Amino acid sequence: MTATHPSIHLDPVDITAPSFRANPFPTFKRWRASRPVVPVRAFGERAWIVTRYDDVMAALTDDRLVKDRRNVRDPTKKHREVWLPGFIRPLQHNMLETDPPDHTRLRSLVHQAFMPRLIAKMQARIHLLAHELIGHVQANGEMDLINDFALPIPMVVISEMFGVAERDRAAFHRWSNVAVSVTKPLDGVLAIPNLYQLVRFLRRLFHEHRLNPQDDLTSALLQAEAEGSQLAEDELIGMVGILLSAGHETTVNLIGNGVLALLTHPADRDRLRADPTLMKAAIEELMRYSPPVLFATSRYAREDLTIAGTQIPKGEMVLAALGSANYDESKFEDPETLMLDRPNNQHVGFGSGIHYCLGAPLARLEASIAFQVLFEQLPKLRLAVPPEQLRWHSSLITRGVKALPVKF
Ligand code: HEM
Repeated sequence: MTATHPSIHLDPVDITAPSFRANPFPTFKRWRASRPVVPVRAFGERAWIVTRYDDVMAALTDDRLVKDRRNVRDPTKKHREVWLPGFIRPLQHNMLETDPPDHTRLRSLVHQAFMPRLIAKMQARIHLLAHELIGHVQANGEMDLINDFALPIPMVVISEMFGVAERDRAAFHRWSNVAVSVTKPLDGVLAIPNLYQLVRFLRRLFHEHRLNPQDDLTSALLQAEAEGSQLAEDELIGMVGILLSAGHETTVNLIGNGVLALLTHPADRDRLRADPTLMKAAIEELMRYSPPVLFATSRYAREDLTIAGTQIPKGEMVLAALGSANYDESKFEDPETLMLDRPNNQHVGFGSGIHYCLGAPLARLEASIAFQVLFEQLPKLRLAVPPEQLRWHSSLITRGVKALPVKF
């Protein structure tokens, strides 16, 4: 049977609310059982959440679901556009918000740099960084694991890859974080001054690198731009903007959520410390069990289509619930149990299809070194507050706590 849409009842759950982000799994379970494609309000409009594993995988590889809304437009109709000042519009010219052929061209320009073989070269640097960060706090006996450890690791690594000076990193994170935290149209308007600063900063970064080229990715991309029409100036802003931002706003949550899960499961933490060969599988299980990215970014139906018996009208937003797919009982045995050595763990935490996470090898490397050094250097690490008191970010895509006070 097919559900039709004229009298659609929107589910009242606010998927951006901190209380939902803290524990979305019971709601996802209810939806998977009773309403596997559920309409909610998101970004001020109707969005269809896809909740079951097989449907999520199919949605992520379905070319009728596009990323760039302009590819859905009916030229004979008027459409409500979200207005953005021209100055910040280049930020949207990035691979995650484009469809082939532009997506293919943009991704191929940086694909090489993120291959596992090249990323592995950064191992020693990440080790040193993790040790340095712990050295800064060791004498205090306590820290905020997010600000003192989980955030600086990906932040410093991605900044060094792109040649972002130390003096600019805190401000860059602030601007990018405002952009990542947009959950409704009004936030989008309020974020404009930050996005303006972000674009100004990127233009300055390019200017400095043009004057003084470095052995980094910013200079390599400027070179590609100078050599021909491979990369337009606007696309350069979109490219470096998305990589700097996606390069740290997500991994911070893999480290933060992962440490939280391990500290609330001390037997697993002890097992991991005693047996480093478990690390590879443990990273995948932590990705599944406490997803750093709860939903894939928005996609739009290029035509009327049906998913799991539910009709989705052309032009409407579809959100693939990665965090729900990762708990689908038809795919994962005992999904609510943290099982560090879970066999054949095919979680979708890094997405699937042509937009599959470009930075997955880097995120995995950073997290594995972070966990290893942290639990080795601070064997008495424990939470300084009960988990119920932790405050979660209000967000749509990323999922993490604002602070994680720990003692050691
Ligand atoms: C644990 C950390 C990370 C998680 C959980 C994560 C998750 C994801 C997911 C789910 C997607 C697909 C989104 C969609 O299809 O809508 C994605 C795409 C992407 N990620 Fe990551 N990511 C992480 C780390 C990184 C890092 C470190 C970088 C860069 C250095 C990065 C760069 C990207 C880029 C550029 C895309 C878009 C790829 C494309 O459109 O072809 N990510 N990520």
